[in-house]
Amino acid sequence: MNHFDYGPDGQMACETVPLAEIAAKVGTPVYVYSTATLVRHYTVFQSAFAEQKPLIAYAVKANPNLSVIRTLARLGAGADTVSEGEIRRALAAGVPADKIVFSGVGKTVHELAFALEVGVSEINVESEPEMDSLARVAAEKGVRASIAIRVNPDIGAGGHAKISTGKADSKFGVSMSEAERLYAKASASACLNPIGVACHIGSQITELAPLEQAFVRMRSLVERLRAEGRSVARLDLGGGLGVPYFDHPPPPSPADFAAMVARVTEGLDVALALEPGRVLVANAGVLVSRVIHVHPRPEGRRFLVLDAAMNDLIRPAMYDAYHDIRPVVRPPEDAPVLGYDVVGPVCETGDTFTRERPMAEVKAGDLVAFMSAGAYGASMASEYNSRLMVPEVLVDGADFAVVRARPTYEDMLARETLASWL
Ligand code: LLP
Repeated sequence: MNHFDYGPDGQMACETVPLAEIAAKVGTPVYVYSTATLVRHYTVFQSAFAEQKPLIAYAVKANPNLSVIRTLARLGAGADTVSEGEIRRALAAGVPADKIVFSGVGKTVHELAFALEVGVSEINVESEPEMDSLARVAAEKGVRASIAIRVNPDIGAGGHAKISTGKADSKFGVSMSEAERLYAKASASACLNPIGVACHIGSQITELAPLEQAFVRMRSLVERLRAEGRSVARLDLGGGLGVPYFDHPPPPSPADFAAMVARVTEGLDVALALEPGRVLVANAGVLVSRVIHVHPRPEGRRFLVLDAAMNDLIRPAMYDAYHDIRPVVRPPEDAPVLGYDVVGPVCETGDTFTRERPMAEVKAGDLVAFMSAGAYGASMASEYNSRLMVPEVLVDGADFAVVRARPTYEDMLARETLASWL
Protein backbone atom coordinates (compact mmCIF):
# COMPACT_ATOMS: atom_id res chain seq x y z
CA MET A 1 0.00 0.00 0.00
CA ASN A 2 1.19 3.53 -0.69
CA HIS A 3 -0.11 7.01 -0.08
CA PHE A 4 -0.42 8.31 -3.65
CA ASP A 5 -4.10 8.45 -4.49
CA TYR A 6 -6.66 10.61 -6.26
CA GLY A 7 -8.62 12.84 -3.88
CA PRO A 8 -12.33 13.65 -4.25
CA ASP A 9 -11.30 16.61 -6.45
CA GLY A 10 -9.66 14.18 -8.90
CA GLN A 11 -6.16 15.43 -8.04
CA MET A 12 -3.48 12.86 -7.21
CA ALA A 13 -2.03 13.68 -3.80
CA CYS A 14 0.90 12.38 -1.82
CA GLU A 15 -0.71 11.92 1.59
CA THR A 16 -2.74 15.15 1.63
CA VAL A 17 -0.51 17.31 -0.56
CA PRO A 18 -1.63 17.55 -4.22
CA LEU A 19 1.25 16.68 -6.55
CA ALA A 20 0.22 19.63 -8.71
CA GLU A 21 0.91 21.97 -5.78
CA ILE A 22 4.43 20.56 -5.40
CA ALA A 23 5.01 20.80 -9.15
CA ALA A 24 3.87 24.44 -9.12
CA LYS A 25 6.19 25.36 -6.24
CA VAL A 26 9.26 23.24 -7.03
CA GLY A 27 8.96 22.78 -10.78
CA THR A 28 9.26 19.55 -12.73
CA PRO A 29 10.67 16.97 -12.99
CA VAL A 30 10.61 16.29 -9.25
CA TYR A 31 10.77 13.21 -7.05
CA VAL A 32 8.17 13.13 -4.28
CA TYR A 33 8.41 10.75 -1.31
CA SER A 34 5.76 9.84 1.26
CA THR A 35 6.75 9.58 4.92
CA ALA A 36 3.61 7.58 5.77
CA THR A 37 4.53 4.99 3.13
CA LEU A 38 8.14 4.74 4.31
CA VAL A 39 6.94 4.26 7.88
CA ARG A 40 4.35 1.72 6.84
CA HIS A 41 6.78 -0.32 4.77
CA TYR A 42 9.42 -0.35 7.49
CA THR A 43 6.86 -1.25 10.16
CA VAL A 44 5.38 -4.08 8.09
CA PHE A 45 8.86 -5.46 7.43
CA GLN A 46 9.96 -5.12 11.03
CA SER A 47 6.77 -6.65 12.45
CA ALA A 48 7.14 -9.62 10.10
CA PHE A 49 10.44 -10.30 11.87
CA ALA A 50 9.18 -9.49 15.38
CA GLU A 51 10.45 -12.83 16.72
CA GLN A 52 13.94 -12.85 15.21
CA LYS A 53 14.63 -9.13 15.71
CA PRO A 54 17.24 -8.92 12.95
CA LEU A 55 19.40 -5.91 12.25
CA ILE A 56 17.45 -4.28 9.42
CA ALA A 57 20.26 -2.59 7.53
CA TYR A 58 18.47 -0.44 4.94
CA ALA A 59 20.35 -0.62 1.63
CA VAL A 60 21.16 3.06 1.25
CA LYS A 61 21.87 2.75 -2.49
CA ALA A 62 18.14 2.38 -3.15
CA ASN A 63 17.50 5.93 -1.98
CA PRO A 64 20.33 7.75 -0.24
CA ASN A 65 18.46 10.95 0.49
CA LEU A 66 19.36 12.02 4.05
CA SER A 67 15.74 12.62 5.02
CA VAL A 68 14.72 9.18 3.75
CA ILE A 69 17.53 7.50 5.68
CA ARG A 70 16.69 9.51 8.80
CA THR A 71 12.99 8.60 8.57
CA LEU A 72 13.97 4.92 8.58
CA ALA A 73 16.76 5.34 11.16
CA ARG A 74 14.29 6.88 13.60
CA LEU A 75 12.28 3.67 13.36
CA GLY A 76 15.38 1.68 14.26
CA ALA A 77 16.87 0.87 10.85
CA GLY A 78 20.58 0.41 10.39
CA ALA A 79 22.29 0.88 7.02
CA ASP A 80 23.87 -1.34 4.40
CA THR A 81 26.47 0.77 2.61
CA VAL A 82 28.84 0.25 -0.32
CA SER A 83 31.08 3.31 -0.32
CA GLU A 84 32.58 5.91 1.97
CA GLY A 85 29.95 8.30 0.64
CA GLU A 86 27.14 6.00 1.74
CA ILE A 87 28.73 5.49 5.18
CA ARG A 88 28.98 9.25 5.54
CA ARG A 89 25.35 9.65 4.50
CA ALA A 90 24.18 7.01 6.99
CA LEU A 91 26.12 8.67 9.82
CA ALA A 92 24.90 12.14 8.83
CA ALA A 93 21.32 10.87 8.83
CA GLY A 94 21.75 9.55 12.39
CA VAL A 95 22.40 5.84 11.88
CA PRO A 96 24.72 4.72 14.69
CA ALA A 97 27.99 3.19 13.42
CA ASP A 98 27.21 -0.05 15.23
CA LYS A 99 24.24 -0.55 12.89
CA ILE A 100 26.21 0.04 9.70
CA VAL A 101 27.24 -2.81 7.40
CA PHE A 102 29.90 -2.09 4.76
CA SER A 103 29.50 -4.25 1.62
CA GLY A 104 30.92 -4.04 -1.91
CA VAL A 105 33.41 -5.83 -4.16
CA GLY A 106 35.93 -3.05 -4.52
CA LYS A 107 36.50 -1.23 -1.24
CA THR A 108 39.63 0.90 -1.41
CA VAL A 109 42.24 0.88 1.34
CA HIS A 110 41.17 4.43 2.15
CA GLU A 111 37.54 3.35 2.49
CA LEU A 112 38.46 0.37 4.67
CA ALA A 113 40.47 2.68 6.95
CA PHE A 114 37.54 5.08 7.14
CA ALA A 115 35.13 2.26 8.02
CA LEU A 116 37.43 1.13 10.83
CA GLU A 117 37.86 4.70 12.12
CA VAL A 118 34.13 5.26 12.44
CA GLY A 119 33.62 1.75 13.82
CA VAL A 120 31.07 0.17 11.48
CA SER A 121 29.57 -3.00 12.89
CA GLU A 122 30.44 -5.41 10.07
CA ILE A 123 32.61 -5.27 6.98
CA ASN A 124 31.43 -7.79 4.41
CA VAL A 125 34.62 -9.12 2.88
CA GLU A 126 34.11 -10.21 -0.72
CA SER A 127 37.49 -11.71 -1.69
CA GLU A 128 40.81 -12.86 -0.31
CA PRO A 129 42.80 -9.85 -1.58
CA GLU A 130 40.28 -7.60 0.10
CA MET A 131 40.61 -9.57 3.34
CA ASP A 132 44.38 -9.25 3.17
CA SER A 133 44.27 -5.49 2.68
CA LEU A 134 41.76 -5.11 5.48
CA ALA A 135 44.05 -7.10 7.80
CA ARG A 136 46.95 -4.76 6.90
CA VAL A 137 44.86 -1.62 7.47
CA ALA A 138 43.54 -2.95 10.79
CA ALA A 139 47.08 -3.86 11.89
CA GLU A 140 48.30 -0.33 11.09
CA LYS A 141 45.48 1.08 13.18
CA GLY A 142 45.96 -1.46 15.97
CA VAL A 143 42.32 -2.59 15.81
CA ARG A 144 40.49 -5.83 15.10
CA ALA A 145 38.05 -5.60 12.22
CA SER A 146 34.70 -7.38 12.58
CA ILE A 147 34.04 -9.11 9.29
CA ALA A 148 31.51 -11.33 7.61
CA ILE A 149 32.53 -13.34 4.58
CA ARG A 150 30.26 -12.63 1.60
CA VAL A 151 29.41 -15.92 0.02
CA ASN A 152 28.20 -16.46 -3.50
CA PRO A 153 25.70 -19.30 -3.09
CA ASP A 154 25.59 -19.93 -6.87
CA ILE A 155 21.90 -19.25 -7.28
CA GLY A 156 20.63 -16.85 -9.90
CA ALA A 157 17.69 -14.64 -9.03
CA GLY A 158 16.40 -11.18 -9.69
CA GLY A 159 14.29 -9.17 -12.06
CA HIS A 160 17.00 -8.74 -14.72
CA ALA A 161 20.41 -10.24 -15.59
CA LYS A 162 22.05 -6.92 -14.69
CA ILE A 163 20.84 -7.14 -11.10
CA SER A 164 21.37 -10.85 -10.46
CA THR A 165 24.37 -11.22 -8.16
CA GLY A 166 24.33 -14.74 -6.76
CA LYS A 167 25.57 -16.91 -9.64
CA ALA A 168 29.07 -18.36 -9.48
CA ASP A 169 30.18 -16.27 -12.48
CA SER A 170 29.12 -12.95 -10.96
CA LYS A 171 31.76 -10.73 -9.36
CA PHE A 172 30.25 -10.92 -5.89
CA GLY A 173 31.59 -12.90 -2.95
CA VAL A 174 33.44 -16.19 -2.71
CA SER A 175 32.36 -19.81 -3.10
CA MET A 176 31.21 -21.88 -0.12
CA SER A 177 34.48 -23.79 0.13
CA GLU A 178 36.52 -20.61 -0.26
CA ALA A 179 34.45 -19.10 2.54
CA GLU A 180 35.46 -21.90 4.90
CA ARG A 181 39.12 -21.40 4.07
CA LEU A 182 38.89 -17.61 4.48
CA TYR A 183 36.99 -17.97 7.75
CA ALA A 184 39.80 -20.14 9.11
CA LYS A 185 42.42 -17.69 7.85
CA ALA A 186 40.59 -14.74 9.43
CA SER A 187 40.21 -16.61 12.72
CA ALA A 188 43.98 -17.04 12.82
CA SER A 189 44.58 -13.32 12.29
CA ALA A 190 45.07 -10.99 15.24
CA CYS A 191 43.54 -8.14 13.24
CA LEU A 192 40.37 -9.80 11.99
CA ASN A 193 37.36 -10.94 13.93
CA PRO A 194 35.11 -13.10 11.75
CA ILE A 195 31.63 -12.70 13.18
CA GLY A 196 29.61 -14.34 10.45
CA VAL A 197 28.73 -14.95 6.84
CA ALA A 198 26.69 -12.92 4.37
CA CYS A 199 24.95 -13.33 1.02
CA HIS A 200 22.85 -11.27 -1.38
CA ILE A 201 21.68 -13.07 -4.49
CA GLY A 202 19.95 -10.38 -6.50
CA SER A 203 17.33 -7.68 -6.59
CA GLN A 204 13.64 -7.50 -7.53
CA ILE A 205 13.25 -11.18 -6.63
CA THR A 206 9.61 -12.14 -6.96
CA GLU A 207 9.70 -15.75 -5.77
CA LEU A 208 10.74 -17.22 -2.46
CA ALA A 209 12.26 -20.41 -3.90
CA PRO A 210 15.68 -19.06 -4.97
CA LEU A 211 16.03 -17.12 -1.74
CA GLU A 212 15.13 -20.20 0.27
CA GLN A 213 17.63 -22.33 -1.65
CA ALA A 214 20.36 -19.78 -0.97
CA PHE A 215 19.48 -19.49 2.71
CA VAL A 216 19.47 -23.29 3.13
CA ARG A 217 23.00 -23.32 1.71
CA MET A 218 24.00 -20.52 4.07
CA ARG A 219 22.61 -22.48 7.01
CA SER A 220 24.69 -25.53 6.11
CA LEU A 221 27.72 -23.31 5.81
CA VAL A 222 27.14 -21.95 9.33
CA GLU A 223 26.78 -25.53 10.59
CA ARG A 224 29.95 -26.66 8.82
CA LEU A 225 31.93 -23.72 10.18
CA ARG A 226 30.71 -24.44 13.68
CA ALA A 227 31.58 -28.12 13.28
CA GLU A 228 35.11 -26.92 12.49
CA GLY A 229 35.07 -25.12 15.83
CA ARG A 230 34.46 -21.60 14.50
CA SER A 231 32.18 -19.17 16.21
CA VAL A 232 29.50 -17.79 13.86
CA ALA A 233 27.42 -15.16 15.59
CA ARG A 234 25.80 -13.44 12.61
CA LEU A 235 24.07 -14.48 9.41
CA ASP A 236 23.48 -11.64 6.96
CA LEU A 237 20.90 -12.67 4.35
CA GLY A 238 21.10 -9.53 2.20
CA GLY A 239 18.19 -7.79 0.48
CA GLY A 240 16.45 -8.45 -2.82
CA LEU A 241 12.77 -8.88 -2.02
CA GLY A 242 10.82 -7.56 -5.01
CA VAL A 243 7.95 -5.11 -5.15
CA PRO A 244 4.90 -4.99 -7.43
CA TYR A 245 5.62 -2.77 -10.45
CA PHE A 246 2.05 -3.38 -11.67
CA ASP A 247 3.08 -5.72 -14.49
CA HIS A 248 4.11 -8.64 -12.28
CA PRO A 249 2.09 -11.03 -10.16
CA PRO A 250 2.53 -9.62 -6.64
CA PRO A 251 5.83 -10.74 -5.11
CA PRO A 252 5.85 -12.53 -1.74
CA SER A 253 4.90 -10.32 1.18
CA PRO A 254 7.39 -9.48 3.94
CA ALA A 255 5.34 -11.84 6.16
CA ASP A 256 5.82 -14.77 3.73
CA PHE A 257 9.49 -13.91 3.40
CA ALA A 258 9.92 -13.74 7.20
CA ALA A 259 8.10 -17.06 7.70
CA MET A 260 10.48 -18.70 5.21
CA VAL A 261 13.52 -17.16 6.94
CA ALA A 262 12.22 -18.37 10.31
CA ARG A 263 11.75 -21.89 8.93
CA VAL A 264 15.21 -22.04 7.39
CA THR A 265 17.05 -20.60 10.38
CA GLU A 266 15.06 -22.39 13.07
CA GLY A 267 17.19 -23.45 16.03
CA LEU A 268 20.35 -22.02 14.46
CA ASP A 269 20.85 -19.53 17.29
CA VAL A 270 22.37 -16.81 15.18
CA ALA A 271 21.82 -13.05 15.05
CA LEU A 272 20.22 -12.22 11.70
CA ALA A 273 20.92 -9.20 9.54
CA LEU A 274 18.92 -8.19 6.47
CA GLU A 275 19.66 -5.55 3.83
CA PRO A 276 16.32 -4.54 2.29
CA GLY A 277 16.34 -1.59 -0.09
CA ARG A 278 13.66 -1.55 -2.77
CA VAL A 279 10.94 -3.14 -0.64
CA LEU A 280 11.14 -0.25 1.83
CA VAL A 281 11.30 2.69 -0.56
CA ALA A 282 10.18 1.86 -4.12
CA ASN A 283 6.49 2.47 -3.66
CA ALA A 284 7.13 5.41 -1.34
CA GLY A 285 8.17 7.64 -4.23
CA VAL A 286 6.98 8.98 -7.57
CA LEU A 287 8.64 11.05 -10.27
CA VAL A 288 6.38 13.89 -11.38
CA SER A 289 6.94 15.20 -14.89
CA ARG A 290 5.22 17.64 -17.24
CA VAL A 291 4.26 16.90 -20.81
CA ILE A 292 6.23 19.22 -23.11
CA HIS A 293 4.24 18.23 -26.15
CA VAL A 294 2.52 15.39 -27.91
CA HIS A 295 4.09 14.64 -31.25
CA PRO A 296 1.84 12.70 -33.64
CA ARG A 297 3.52 10.69 -36.41
CA PRO A 298 1.99 9.85 -39.77
CA GLU A 299 2.25 6.09 -39.18
CA GLY A 300 -0.17 6.41 -36.31
CA ARG A 301 2.32 6.52 -33.44
CA ARG A 302 2.37 9.40 -31.03
CA PHE A 303 5.27 10.47 -28.87
CA LEU A 304 4.53 11.85 -25.45
CA VAL A 305 7.55 14.08 -24.86
CA LEU A 306 8.13 14.71 -21.17
CA ASP A 307 10.46 17.03 -19.29
CA ALA A 308 11.82 13.97 -17.41
CA ALA A 309 14.37 11.82 -19.21
CA MET A 310 16.56 8.76 -18.86
CA ASN A 311 19.06 10.77 -16.81
CA ASP A 312 16.35 11.30 -14.15
CA LEU A 313 14.99 7.73 -14.15
CA ILE A 314 17.24 5.26 -15.92
CA ARG A 315 15.51 2.00 -14.97
CA PRO A 316 13.44 1.61 -18.18
CA ALA A 317 16.47 2.30 -20.42
CA MET A 318 18.82 0.13 -18.38
CA TYR A 319 16.69 -2.83 -17.33
CA ASP A 320 13.61 -2.49 -19.57
CA ALA A 321 11.85 -1.81 -16.29
CA TYR A 322 8.14 -1.11 -16.20
CA HIS A 323 6.84 1.91 -14.30
CA ASP A 324 3.17 2.73 -14.25
CA ILE A 325 2.61 6.26 -15.60
CA ARG A 326 -0.50 7.96 -14.28
CA PRO A 327 -2.02 11.33 -15.04
CA VAL A 328 -1.88 13.62 -12.02
CA VAL A 329 -5.46 14.75 -12.68
CA ARG A 330 -7.84 11.81 -12.90
CA PRO A 331 -9.10 11.62 -16.51
CA PRO A 332 -12.85 11.60 -17.16
CA GLU A 333 -14.31 8.09 -17.48
CA ASP A 334 -15.09 8.64 -21.16
CA ALA A 335 -11.62 9.99 -22.05
CA PRO A 336 -10.28 8.27 -25.18
CA VAL A 337 -7.48 5.77 -24.50
CA LEU A 338 -4.55 6.14 -26.91
CA GLY A 339 -1.22 4.35 -27.33
CA TYR A 340 1.79 6.52 -26.44
CA ASP A 341 5.53 6.16 -26.86
CA VAL A 342 6.66 8.00 -23.74
CA VAL A 343 10.04 9.66 -24.19
CA GLY A 344 12.29 12.30 -22.67
CA PRO A 345 14.31 15.08 -24.32
CA VAL A 346 17.70 13.31 -24.19
CA CYS A 347 19.42 12.69 -27.52
CA GLU A 348 19.26 8.89 -27.58
CA THR A 349 16.61 6.49 -28.75
CA GLY A 350 17.21 4.71 -25.43
CA ASP A 351 15.55 7.68 -23.76
CA THR A 352 12.23 5.88 -24.09
CA PHE A 353 10.26 5.06 -20.96
CA THR A 354 7.78 2.83 -22.73
CA ARG A 355 6.30 2.14 -26.16
CA GLU A 356 2.65 1.88 -27.22
CA ARG A 357 1.45 2.33 -23.64
CA PRO A 358 -2.33 2.73 -23.56
CA MET A 359 -3.16 5.86 -21.59
CA ALA A 360 -6.14 8.16 -21.26
CA GLU A 361 -5.53 11.08 -23.62
CA VAL A 362 -2.84 13.47 -22.36
CA LYS A 363 -2.14 17.02 -23.58
CA ALA A 364 0.80 19.42 -23.52
CA GLY A 365 1.17 20.95 -20.05
CA ASP A 366 -0.41 17.99 -18.21
CA LEU A 367 1.41 16.38 -15.31
CA VAL A 368 2.11 12.67 -15.10
CA ALA A 369 3.55 10.57 -12.27
CA PHE A 370 5.92 7.63 -12.69
CA MET A 371 4.86 5.28 -9.91
CA SER A 372 7.17 3.12 -7.78
CA ALA A 373 10.09 5.45 -8.42
CA GLY A 374 11.32 5.73 -4.82
CA ALA A 375 14.04 3.07 -5.26
CA TYR A 376 16.93 3.40 -7.71
CA GLY A 377 15.34 6.52 -9.20
CA ALA A 378 17.01 9.66 -7.85
CA SER A 379 19.93 7.54 -6.66
CA MET A 380 20.84 6.62 -10.26
CA ALA A 381 20.15 10.05 -11.76
CA SER A 382 22.84 11.97 -13.60
CA GLU A 383 23.40 15.27 -15.37
CA TYR A 384 23.63 13.66 -18.82
CA ASN A 385 22.89 16.20 -21.56
CA SER A 386 23.77 18.85 -18.92
CA ARG A 387 20.32 18.55 -17.47
CA LEU A 388 20.09 19.70 -13.85
CA MET A 389 19.86 17.00 -11.19
CA VAL A 390 16.24 16.37 -10.32
CA PRO A 391 15.12 17.74 -6.93
CA GLU A 392 13.53 15.66 -4.17
CA VAL A 393 10.59 16.49 -1.90
CA LEU A 394 9.48 14.69 1.26
CA VAL A 395 5.83 14.85 2.27
CA ASP A 396 4.56 14.22 5.77
CA GLY A 397 0.78 14.55 6.10
CA ALA A 398 -0.09 18.06 4.93
CA ASP A 399 3.54 19.28 5.00
CA PHE A 400 6.23 19.03 2.44
CA ALA A 401 9.89 19.98 2.33
CA VAL A 402 12.40 20.20 -0.49
CA VAL A 403 14.99 17.73 0.81
CA ARG A 404 17.32 18.14 -2.14
CA ALA A 405 17.03 21.32 -4.13
CA ARG A 406 17.35 21.56 -7.87
CA PRO A 407 20.76 23.14 -8.46
CA THR A 408 21.05 26.25 -10.61
CA TYR A 409 22.92 26.34 -13.90
CA GLU A 410 25.46 28.54 -12.13
CA ASP A 411 25.99 25.74 -9.54
CA MET A 412 26.48 23.28 -12.35
CA LEU A 413 29.07 25.40 -14.16
CA ALA A 414 30.81 26.49 -10.95
CA ARG A 415 31.95 22.93 -10.22
CA GLU A 416 34.29 23.06 -13.19
CA THR A 417 37.51 24.97 -13.71
CA LEU A 418 38.78 25.90 -17.14
CA ALA A 419 42.31 24.56 -17.65
CA SER A 420 44.76 27.42 -17.09
CA TRP A 421 46.13 27.15 -20.64
CA LEU A 422 42.76 27.68 -22.29
N1 LLP B 1 22.58 -5.70 -0.27
C1 LLP B 1 23.48 -5.71 -1.27
C2 LLP B 1 24.82 -6.24 -1.02
C3 LLP B 1 23.12 -5.22 -2.55
O1 LLP B 1 24.02 -5.25 -3.54
C4 LLP B 1 21.81 -4.71 -2.77
C5 LLP B 1 21.41 -4.21 -4.07
C6 LLP B 1 20.92 -4.70 -1.67
C7 LLP B 1 21.33 -5.21 -0.45
C8 LLP B 1 19.52 -4.18 -1.79
O2 LLP B 1 18.76 -4.90 -2.70
P1 LLP B 1 17.17 -4.62 -2.82
O3 LLP B 1 16.52 -5.04 -1.52
O4 LLP B 1 16.99 -3.17 -3.07
O5 LLP B 1 16.76 -5.44 -3.96
N2 LLP B 1 19.59 -0.54 -9.75
C9 LLP B 1 18.83 -1.77 -9.80
C10 LLP B 1 18.96 -2.56 -8.52
C11 LLP B 1 20.38 -2.87 -8.12
C12 LLP B 1 20.52 -3.57 -6.80
C13 LLP B 1 21.94 -3.65 -6.38
N3 LLP B 1 22.16 -4.24 -5.09
C14 LLP B 1 17.38 -1.45 -10.16
O6 LLP B 1 17.06 -0.28 -10.39
O7 LLP B 1 16.55 -2.36 -10.26
